[in-house]
Amino acid sequence: MMMSKWVSLCIAVPLTCCIAQAQEVQEPETVELALAGKREIVVKRGYTEEAAKCVECHAKETPGIVEAWREGRMAHVAVSCYDCHAVKKNSPMASQCSGIKGSETFISPMVSPKTCAKCHPTEVEQFSKSGHARLAGAPVIEKEKFKKLMYHYEGGEFMHPDKKGSTASRSGGCQMCHGTETELGPDNKPINETWPGGVGQRYPDGGIGNCTVCHTRHMFSMAEARKPEACASCHLGPDHPDIEIYLSSKHGQLYLTHGEDWNWDSAPDAWEPGDYKAPTCATCHMSGIGELKTTHNVNERLHWDLVHPRSEVRTGERGDGHKGRELMEQVCENCHGPTHTKATMATLDKTVALYNEYYDGAEKMRKELAEKKLLKEDRWSDGFMELHYYLWHHTGRRARHGAAMNGPDYAHWHGFFQVFQVYKDLKAIYDYRMKHGEIEELSTVMSTGPE
Ligand code: HEC
Ligand code: HEC
Ligand code: HEC
Ligand code: HEC
Ligand code: HEC
Ligand code: HEC
Ligand code: HEC
Ligand code: HEC
Repeated sequence: MMMSKWVSLCIAVPLTCCIAQAQEVQEPETVELALAGKREIVVKRGYTEEAAKCVECHAKETPGIVEAWREGRMAHVAVSCYDCHAVKKNSPMASQCSGIKGSETFISPMVSPKTCAKCHPTEVEQFSKSGHARLAGAPVIEKEKFKKLMYHYEGGEFMHPDKKGSTASRSGGCQMCHGTETELGPDNKPINETWPGGVGQRYPDGGIGNCTVCHTRHMFSMAEARKPEACASCHLGPDHPDIEIYLSSKHGQLYLTHGEDWNWDSAPDAWEPGDYKAPTCATCHMSGIGELKTTHNVNERLHWDLVHPRSEVRTGERGDGHKGRELMEQVCENCHGPTHTKATMATLDKTVALYNEYYDGAEKMRKELAEKKLLKEDRWSDGFMELHYYLWHHTGRRARHGAAMNGPDYAHWHGFFQVFQVYKDLKAIYDYRMKHGEIEELSTVMSTGPE
């Protein structure tokens, strides 16, 4: 049954858009299409018996995967298991599943953006320059202070000083959003807790990033990635409640009430107001709209850095903030007049200025306390430091993101109102320590922090 559906699908595919790169098996003809001077798609012809076998057997062994693949655009142009999973025999990731044992074909369950780049070089290049690639993995993989947080404090080492910390907090949490370094066992397969991972996952073939976080496998649907749900698995919660902000904004109101009737399937760069009445995350941060072209670099349209302790205009690896502002305003002006757009951006700039004032005040107190040795060595047991963290990482970020994306409840009640409360408590602790020259005995801070 499943097989017959698949076969009829293949017959329906015109030869000119057929596939498979199988370089080692036969020399395929390469067709490079430069579309509108921007998108470059490489299509390789020549469908092999080898590639057909994967689908045939996997339709029985892993029907869920084959069914999802069958519905996607890539199955329609006959890009199959082989194109993405076959690797060279000498690849560090080469292994064989039971179906191909003993043959000259090697595969891997891991697929990095390097594979996608063979056919989608433009998307991969843009993605690689964004905060979703190397920068996303950096905190989890490279930064010592986060490793201490993950392994020592959250990993429970401090509960059992005699034992090694646990990796559980990291493997089920941080790295499922941020990504981590894939480590291989002797069978060339990933060892537990290092794969699969989040948006900045790093691979043994040198590839960085995980394309499946927004268009999930094996449909790889563009329509799915255009919906706000595609971002919601990571952009949520007390420290970056972007989906909550969006769904409570006027844009979210329109999405929730009318989204079902919108057209999600327009061609890349041809998804325009009219297909939808209000923007989604993708519209503002990625999709082509009006004169703007689609980008996989989410940093391109940003002005401020709203994620780190102090907000600055973006420079260097984080993007060009001045250009970012221009591009984002261009997005808005497809549906709003210039007065509306300028007013909204001015509110964001004022929000950042006020937040920075609170942050600078808190930093000044922290530095004075540090000079006078009035901070504990372990910052996570020090009431002042815990509040200092909530000020920028939770409440302050909520105020900034809320104002940026028109979520008034987050800008105020979950935002500035609590920035102010936390600041007052910071000040009270600071005053006590400066007056008495000692750290108070008990911290009054609730460990869950302000919600
Ligand atoms: C367009 C590329 C592409 C195609 C076509 C494709 N896959 Fe995948 N597959 C991926 C990616 C990407 C992942 C995620 C890998 C990662 O996280 O490193 C994946 C993961 C997997 C996994 C491991 C994850 C799991 O859930 O167990 C299996 C098994 C798999 N694919 C089988 C298949 C089969 C069978 C087919 C053919 C019907 C197929 N794939 C077609 C790209 C593809
Ligand atoms: C005759 C049946 C059969 C054929 C043909 C076959 N497979 Fe498999 N494949 C399996 C089975 C069964 C598994 C489950 C794990 C195992 O037995 O190795 C599997 C597992 C996999 C996995 C997951 C490996 C893991 O470590 O989780 C991938 C990826 C995969 N196959 C891809 C392919 C590709 C690509 C082809 C074609 C080149 C292919 N398979 C051909 C039966 C087959
Ligand atoms: C062998 C070439 C090839 C490989 C490898 C490949 N793709 Fe594709 N992909 C295509 C072609 C061809 C299309 C159809 C283009 C079109 O419709 O204009 C496509 C379309 C897509 C689309 C648009 C789907 C839609 O709903 O319109 C997405 C998303 C996508 N690919 C993602 C990926 C990802 C992610 C990878 C790597 C895991 C990948 N592709 C690997 C050739 C490939
Ligand atoms: C639910 C998904 C999720 C989890 C779990 C998560 N993060 Fe994040 N993290 C994000 C998102 C999304 C951002 C970006 C927010 C923004 O840009 O405003 C982010 C931003 C960051 C940043 C700031 C950006 C940078 O690279 O400097 C750091 C550092 C960070 N996270 C570290 C961690 C660590 C360490 C853990 C585990 C202790 C963790 N995160 C857990 C999703 C997550
Ligand atoms: C942060 C979410 C996100 C990630 C991660 C992501 N994409 Fe996309 N992708 C999108 C969105 C949104 C669109 C639709 C853009 C539009 O509306 O024009 C899209 C469209 C596409 C398309 C079809 C449009 C085109 O320009 O050809 C391809 C191909 C594609 N993505 C490939 C990839 C590849 C390869 C990766 C990994 C390097 C990737 N995507 C990672 C969100 C994402
Ligand atoms: C698998 C988790 C995940 C998904 C899904 C995801 N992101 Fe992210 N995003 C992150 C992480 C982690 C960061 C922080 C990167 C860093 O550490 O600098 C981030 C950062 C960002 C940033 C800021 C980049 C920077 O350098 O500061 C933007 C904007 C963004 N994401 C937008 C989106 C949009 C829009 C979508 C959906 C179309 C999306 N993301 C989907 C995990 C995700
Ligand atoms: C109406 C357009 C719009 C929509 C819709 C939208 N955003 Fe934003 N987003 C913005 C603007 C504007 C900023 C602030 C830009 C700046 O830096 O000046 C921003 C900032 C961000 C940031 C902070 C980046 C940083 O500095 O760390 C993240 C993360 C983000 N958006 C993710 C999302 C996600 C996820 C969604 C959907 C749930 C979404 N956005 C919906 C316009 C939008
Ligand atoms: C696809 C069209 C579209 C785009 C693009 C768009 N908006 Fe909107 N926006 C709307 C609609 C429609 C409303 C609802 C107006 C109403 O409440 O009657 C709205 C409402 C708003 C509101 C609520 C206040 C009000 O007008 O009642 C703000 C603030 C806002 N948009 C800001 C922005 C910003 C900033 C951008 C660009 C970053 C943007 N919008 C991009 C369509 C859009």
